[in-house]
Amino acid sequence: MAFRNYGDGDATHQALGGVDEIRRLVELFYEEMDTLPEAATIRALHPSDLEVSIDKLARFLSGWTGGPRLYAEKYGPIRIPVFHQHLPVGEEERDAWLLCMERALDRMGYPDDLKAYMLRELFVPAERIRMRVEERKRARQGAAASGLAIETASGEER
Ligand code: HEM
Repeated sequence: MAFRNYGDGDATHQALGGVDEIRRLVELFYEEMDTLPEAATIRALHPSDLEVSIDKLARFLSGWTGGPRLYAEKYGPIRIPVFHQHLPVGEEERDAWLLCMERALDRMGYPDDLKAYMLRELFVPAERIRMRVEERKRARQGAAASGLAIETASGEER
């Protein structure tokens, strides 16, 4: 195959090995979350049975890496920061999530440049989640201070 940059069409999806390998990656990701002490807090936010969580994240990452949009096909549209905005996600939780992904990527034996690319790209939505949670906390504090009603704005664009 001629050289393609990750992020060019479905290059990342192909480099990861397609749908089945992405599913394997996500299984390893949740295995890490299930066992790493650093991830205990975020593990506890998930249901005890991780089967559906695995299916959802594997499908999401298929489309997110330029492959078939399997999440949207089964579950409809999703905005990642809005979806997570009710969760307690700060820097620690963000980093724990990324650590699970780093270890899963390692275990898959992917080349270093692909691992680095994935982690750099995944930092973006992970950080957006953290910022969104932080903004909402600030808005709530501001509203409480001024005695205003709290706006939930769950369908807000972002
Ligand atoms: C920043 C740290 C993150 C934490 C703490 C976190 C935590 C969670 C939790 C607790 C759930 C709910 C699981 C369930 O009830 O089944 C979830 C679902 C999900 N997360 Fe995250 N997440 C994080 C980052 C991300 C990122 C960066 C992505 C995408 C690149 C992502 C994609 C998803 C998807 C696709 C779902 C399933 C949505 C659904 O239920 O339809 N998450 N996450």
